[in-house]
Amino acid sequence: MPATVIVGAQWGDEGKGKIVDLLARDSDLVCRYNGGPNAGHTIVVDGETYKLRQIPSGIVWGKECLIGAGCVVDPAVLIDEIDEYVTGRGLPEDCLHLSGNAHMIMPWHLLLDQASERRLGKLQIGTTRRGNGPAYADKAHRLGIRLQDIFDPKILRQKIETALAEKNLWLERIYGVEPVELEELAARYESYAQRLRPYLADTSLLVDRALRDGRRVLLEGGHGTLLDIDNGTYPFVTSSSTIAGGACTGIGIGPTRIDAVVGVAKAYVTRVGEGPFPTEIDGSDQARMRDLGGEFGTVTGRERRCGWLDLVALRYAVRLNGITSIALTKLDVLSFFDRLPVCIAYELRDGTRTDEFPEHQSDFHAARPVYETLEGWGAELDGGDDLPAAARRYVEFVEHQLGVEVSWVGTGAEREQVLVRG
Ligand code: IMP
Repeated sequence: MPATVIVGAQWGDEGKGKIVDLLARDSDLVCRYNGGPNAGHTIVVDGETYKLRQIPSGIVWGKECLIGAGCVVDPAVLIDEIDEYVTGRGLPEDCLHLSGNAHMIMPWHLLLDQASERRLGKLQIGTTRRGNGPAYADKAHRLGIRLQDIFDPKILRQKIETALAEKNLWLERIYGVEPVELEELAARYESYAQRLRPYLADTSLLVDRALRDGRRVLLEGGHGTLLDIDNGTYPFVTSSSTIAGGACTGIGIGPTRIDAVVGVAKAYVTRVGEGPFPTEIDGSDQARMRDLGGEFGTVTGRERRCGWLDLVALRYAVRLNGITSIALTKLDVLSFFDRLPVCIAYELRDGTRTDEFPEHQSDFHAARPVYETLEGWGAELDGGDDLPAAARRYVEFVEHQLGVEVSWVGTGAEREQVLVRG
């Protein structure tokens, strides 16, 4: 399968890094198509943990990696990652390519993200406060500064000056915080330009050529389906196109180039930040699942909210992404529960029952989960070639409900703890 998209099928943190890592082994080029340093992918290899924020996880294998036009990039964070995972591991510069069309997260984006959340108070989105939303807003507003702009000091300075004329007013007058100073900033970004110059490439052309040459390309989405700006649980979403369709715009290739879409879903559900979550666990199992699953944000360290598997939401993810196979991760975490409620439908405000994701946000907010309870398997997964019968039934139940094959099952944090099925 020359072009495969890997997409998070829930609210992010599904364990995509691990599945990308697995599939990257047989790929030639691994690309990130959306999001910025607000995402975090964790991969554990031989007891060593890699936490990646912007560079695709394929870098752990030393694969050629690419950051597409649909991403936003914080140059300071990216340079740290390059130091740690590219040059720091002796990988050549041509292992990483950056689209000049990707927008940069500027210092005022971070300040505005933080200030705006503070101001929203109880109504806050619960963002990662990494400047992601304001950077995408400026991109749409056509006030953004792209990676390619850092190579012309005159243009860069001009653009920073234009943006600051507006942003400093917001910072000072609306949010009451310190303004950003032009000179220091222009100098700092020029130094970033020196570091990033070797990595800039025409990434759309690069992917097109790779596909024409029959090379295997992985397109990795950040975050998850329900955080998609257009189809997610708005306004509690991120600001980019997280779904498989976003891979086309975010990389600059046509939809006909995509052969397969792998949806990565946890065997339960987590969510960070605010917003409705019908299957959120009430009671002590919440903390138990969080501790067992190590459910704390990769980037922010925040506690993740935990819930039972929601097949209504997953059915929606299958539809939005055209998922052709599922990777069900962290099944091992469920080994410690005797009974496993799985949400198969929602009961809506008017008492009707639906197995499709509600189109209206208020319906989703008020949706009550209808559970079918499956038996636990009462033993830790041993990482062998087969699952205990009850665990197999859990996986088959998911397949049957969604009509999509579960091709991989995650049975532990280590790289090789993945069961490949069928
Ligand atoms: P932002 O992307 O920082 O603007 O945050 C918007 C919403 O998306 C918040 O609810 C975040 O917690 C959530 N979010 C952003 N990135 C991730 C991720 O990688 N995993 C899980 N949630 C995320």
